[in-house]
Amino acid sequence: MSHAHHEKLLIIDFGSQVTKLIARRVRESGVYSEVHPYNKIDKEMLEKFAPKAIILSGGPNSVTGIGTPRADNHIWSMGIPILGICYGQQTMCAQLGGAVESSEDKEFGRADMTVLDDSQLFEGLDKEERVWMSHGDRVVSIPDGFKVIGTSQHAPYAAISDVKKRFYGVQFHPEVVHTLNGSKILKNFTHKISGFKADWTMASFKGEMIEAIKEQVGSSQVICGLSGGVDSSVAAVLIHEAIGDQLTCVYVDTGMMRKGETEQVVSLFKEHYDMNLIAVDASEEFLKLLMGVSDPEKKRKIIGGTFIDIFEREAKKIGGAKYLAQGTLYPDVIESVSFDGGPSVTIKSHHNVGGLPERMDMELVEPLRELFKDEVRELGKELGLHKDFVERHPFPGPGLAIRCPGIITKDRLDILREADSIYLDQIKKHNLYNSIWQAFAVILPVQTVGVMGDERTYENVLALRAVTSTDGMTADYYPYSHEFLGETATRIINEVRGVNRVVYDITSKPPGTIEWE
Ligand code: XMP
Repeated sequence: MSHAHHEKLLIIDFGSQVTKLIARRVRESGVYSEVHPYNKIDKEMLEKFAPKAIILSGGPNSVTGIGTPRADNHIWSMGIPILGICYGQQTMCAQLGGAVESSEDKEFGRADMTVLDDSQLFEGLDKEERVWMSHGDRVVSIPDGFKVIGTSQHAPYAAISDVKKRFYGVQFHPEVVHTLNGSKILKNFTHKISGFKADWTMASFKGEMIEAIKEQVGSSQVICGLSGGVDSSVAAVLIHEAIGDQLTCVYVDTGMMRKGETEQVVSLFKEHYDMNLIAVDASEEFLKLLMGVSDPEKKRKIIGGTFIDIFEREAKKIGGAKYLAQGTLYPDVIESVSFDGGPSVTIKSHHNVGGLPERMDMELVEPLRELFKDEVRELGKELGLHKDFVERHPFPGPGLAIRCPGIITKDRLDILREADSIYLDQIKKHNLYNSIWQAFAVILPVQTVGVMGDERTYENVLALRAVTSTDGMTADYYPYSHEFLGETATRIINEVRGVNRVVYDITSKPPGTIEWE
């Protein structure tokens, strides 16, 4: 592992929905952290990982239940600071001799905590703090050596500490933004209590990664599927900086790209970065295979499979490569604790180049697998990629195919491309682009009657979508002004032949998804 010489914080996951946020918050303050599931942790792992401090996450279980998760008991004797959050606090109490009870007095959402003590954990905070709770159980007696440092109406032991051992427990969630001083509390834990030096910076990560890539790859060839999206682009630039011409990128124009996208990507990487880039125009091949297909899952499967076929074909042409580079991110690799044990339902089969390494017998180079999306953007800037480029909205692998419900034809794609580009132009003109997670147009398989001049029209309906989100897992629709929506609809209908009605999608996720298919 490339971060062996960094001071590391270990987050033990008990299955909370927000465990990843702990890692985010901790890293924001310059401390390297990793999330590991509680049931994969034992003495040997702990000794190898050698954390400087540990955080125990929340979780959906009740410590009062039989056989519910516990932290490996070795952690208590390592002599390092430990912070238990919610379930983490409860299991800390239960394991060290305190008691936890299921309570009717459940507490979800905002709460006010009174800070009782001059604790290091709460240094710089007010006497009354707004925190965010989400618990049914609560601590009813604390282990020997602990005292109460914060209390709230429904959680008498809202915060506890054993200063000598440097063990801390909080019932609330400091990792969520609704706990107003949550970041400060976590920083007090990492910097003041645990003494982390904050040695995790993007510049240091970049340098270490370049060395690690060189070491992994040696003199072998690497290929990389470049979609022009932020993740694959940043991965490609980083690897290129490490090994130069040993990297070949393959860009496949599926015909489902947005207006000007292919030209932009090719000119950026080929001309500006002088990379080995094979740009394949496979638009006809994709369109032919998608002809007559309207089922969203079938579309995704066809696109994913064809992409792999083309990629494999191109890789063979350059004489094969030992390594395949992918822009996999940390949220994709965190092994989360799943308590139901059953297979999760496939909502959508996401397209990426999964399946390729097995089929082509290649080893993986995944330099971003420790990063979150916003860290990737920061790394992109560190690598000199333009701010406008790294801040681009996510664009799905299947592209416009999943924004064209029903049958896909070149005409429909062309109409969609034009309308989408006007929509994005409007967003940028009104300075809204960076307040929105993702915005795009969808062409509906519906025609409606309209009137233009004195003529009757019978043309397509276009839906506009824009959402705010932090990770794409949940989302809310963006509250545009009526003026903005009116102006945008007018521009689209006036400037795009084939659209005579525009609607705005105001569905959140859940119950909707961000894309329409
Ligand atoms: P949904 O529609 O599932 O989308 O709410 C969540 C996020 O994932 C993107 N998305 C994809 N990205 N391949 C991708 O690389 C896919 O097949 C795919 N489908 C959805 C979507 O754009 C949003 O950012």
